[in-house]
Amino acid sequence: MNEKNKLPTMYWQDNRLCILDQRFLPLKVEYRSCKNCSQIIDSIKEMSVRGAPAIGITAAYGMAIAALNALEEGYNKDKLLTSLDEAASNLIMARPTAVNLFWAVQRMKNLIQKQKESSPQQIFESLLTEAKKIHDEDVNNNRMIGYYGSELVPEKASVLTHCNAGALATCGYGTALGVVRAAVKQGKDIHVFVDETRPLLQGSRITAFELLNEDISATLVTDSAAGSLLSGNKVDLILVGADRIAANGDVANKIGTYTLAVLADYHNVPFYVAAPVSTIDMTVESGESIIIEKRCSSEITYLDGHLTAPEGITAFNPAFDITPAKLITAIITERGVVCRPDREKLNKLF
Ligand code: MRU
Repeated sequence: MNEKNKLPTMYWQDNRLCILDQRFLPLKVEYRSCKNCSQIIDSIKEMSVRGAPAIGITAAYGMAIAALNALEEGYNKDKLLTSLDEAASNLIMARPTAVNLFWAVQRMKNLIQKQKESSPQQIFESLLTEAKKIHDEDVNNNRMIGYYGSELVPEKASVLTHCNAGALATCGYGTALGVVRAAVKQGKDIHVFVDETRPLLQGSRITAFELLNEDISATLVTDSAAGSLLSGNKVDLILVGADRIAANGDVANKIGTYTLAVLADYHNVPFYVAAPVSTIDMTVESGESIIIEKRCSSEITYLDGHLTAPEGITAFNPAFDITPAKLITAIITERGVVCRPDREKLNKLF
């Protein structure tokens, strides 16, 4: 699903970025049409688009749209460059944890740096071309992650996954779910246990939706069922995505990932992280320095608009946690598999 034409995560049309509004899945398929950079930023903040690679691609288009808006305003080159600087600063503030956002914006800034002799029109065109290139690269990266990762999946495997690291968290095939898809394509008999992933239910709303649409065998479980599944020998491997990987191999991913890694270690089950190289941040030494997004307490105290906790209760709602490298069996990237990750091994990917 979602490899161009099939429910795309986003697409560019008539100088607008149309973003599949994932807040409404699986009940409603609706696209959010963005014609300026602040609409793009809102789509990231409000999680219409989510998942580290998808956020990065959206931000790249956000830079192109900022250039287009400056052109429409008739700005001269200096004013256009100032507005692009502003757009970049605002985009990187949309969400703090997924490094792909910073990576994509930096890539667009590097391109702007090389445009000393270009006209405003040429700058816009080159930014749009670059955003489309990042989009296409993501599709290929996911394919390669699937190719390398599927080697690690046994013939008849039961996989536990968390959150959504699928086609809709990327612009292609998915990272963790890309591995599942590739293994299924090879004819392997795979079953996926899908954590519902409280509080925003990316597992039940999005991962289950993707798997069901593709007839991949799946069972939805509550997050707290993981221990029971592992102690009952129902899981052969755990496969998750990542929002940021530190130089030492520590991984930031959706809250609850660390719990799964501890369980995997206890039960001697392999724990794999699938992510593109753009998710690795060699400037951050360890997971301790990764900023973890804290989201509002109403995501926990309300369910579908209904209060599910006593009014006035304090709630703690971190969106991500850190899994230390020592609990990770391997990181699967588009450039190969890094077993027992550390700085030296990750460095070799660049
Ligand atoms: O808060 P979200 O939905 O953006 O969190 C997404 C995740 O944690 C994913 O596992 C991660 O971004 C990898 S997506 C390929």
